[in-house]
Amino acid sequence: MDRTAQLTARSAARDIAYDPPPAADPRHLGAARVLEANWTGSSTVPSRSLYPHQWSWDSTFIAIGLRHLSPLRAQTELETLFDAQWGDGRVPHIVFNPSVPLDAYFPSPDFWRSSTAGHAAGAPRTVQTSGIVQPPVHALAAWLVHRADPGLSRARGFLPRLYPRLAAWHRYLLHRRDLGGAGLASVVHPWEQGMDNSPCWDTPLSRVTPAPARSFRRADLAHGAPEDRPTDLDYGRYVRLATDYRDGGYADGPGEFAVEDPAFNALLIASEHALAGIATELGAPGTARHARAERLTTALIDRMWDPAREMFFCHDVRTDDLVPERGVAGLVPLLLPTLPRDIAAALVRTAHGPHFGLGDTTRLAPSYDLLGEAFDPHRYWRGPAWFNTNWLLERGLRVHGERERADALREAVLELAVASGFAEYVDPFTGAACGATGFGWTAALTLDLLHDAEELKDLKGGDRR
Ligand code: SER
Repeated sequence: MDRTAQLTARSAARDIAYDPPPAADPRHLGAARVLEANWTGSSTVPSRSLYPHQWSWDSTFIAIGLRHLSPLRAQTELETLFDAQWGDGRVPHIVFNPSVPLDAYFPSPDFWRSSTAGHAAGAPRTVQTSGIVQPPVHALAAWLVHRADPGLSRARGFLPRLYPRLAAWHRYLLHRRDLGGAGLASVVHPWEQGMDNSPCWDTPLSRVTPAPARSFRRADLAHGAPEDRPTDLDYGRYVRLATDYRDGGYADGPGEFAVEDPAFNALLIASEHALAGIATELGAPGTARHARAERLTTALIDRMWDPAREMFFCHDVRTDDLVPERGVAGLVPLLLPTLPRDIAAALVRTAHGPHFGLGDTTRLAPSYDLLGEAFDPHRYWRGPAWFNTNWLLERGLRVHGERERADALREAVLELAVASGFAEYVDPFTGAACGATGFGWTAALTLDLLHDAEELKDLKGGDRR
């Protein structure tokens, strides 16, 4: 057996074991059980009921947690996703599992028709995917996964194989998706940003004529309470946008919906820093990537920062306006270690002020402004608290030296994740479970927070001083 095979075998043998072993910690065991139950053999489903395929940004957060249980599975999670990457560099938001019945999830492969409609954009022929993307957490996840077991990673050539794919993914976003001309990436569908029905999309979406309700059949309502899910009107608009994109061969251009979002772009910047760390690990200089990340940070601030309201706002590319809704996405840039000090301090104030109530009226930051007209504590991204955004905020607080606040948020995430049965999202006031339980990224990020804060340096893409 050569060294790679040996290491792989050793890692497989201790698959789903961990060190150091907080095995006696029931939170750890509970989270590990969810990840085990959601593992398909090559990737992890977000939820066995609501989301029975592989989702792109779910997989990135899942890999970040899975690395503490099995670095091999965490690497495999990302590799499986990138096996479905398109020729133009896009990483599809869903990779479909062919053994799941078509009616288990909508929109299914026969809606997206990736291998035919996506032919010109280089969609793979052997696997069916959606044609839109999700937030680029991938390079950050790959870097964190590598750091969890550099020996296994090197032996398997994990980074050398993934690096060109990650670079192509970022090229796609930075060129084909620079629809606003400011160097930032635009999303062309609310599902791409991941916070599907955030009130931030209401105005840009209102220009879209909904597809007739009878032209499609939702599958989500069979598994989730209708009052926790987006409305039929929202779905009609999602379907229209996706249909038009598909019928245009998934070419990027002047579609009806194009928005620059602060979380999507902050995650791209964090991943650009991580790519610099990966490049350095592979013996190439990372300086140009760090410099690009800094230019993107400047563009993010120029384009989306509102000093009076002390947070970031979405930029509607079609009207050239800021969307005046306070979504949690506008706090996510706190994740960036190089954010100017005064902006970081303002974001901390906003998160803990009346609009998000952190540590005061809420223990986890809600997805949307508590004082906003559209606030709803249960309906998907219109108010409930999500665990991935709170993990991002916890990392941001810690990276900016707000230790006590980070500790409080960490405790709240751990307590509410476990108490809710690793819910998809929770009521921000009561912590009551919403959506699915046994949710992949909730379990994964719980695990990540149970391991200590050793990787803060990794958020910067390695030590570059
Ligand atoms: N989040 C979406 C859904 O609810 C699409 O990715 O299905």
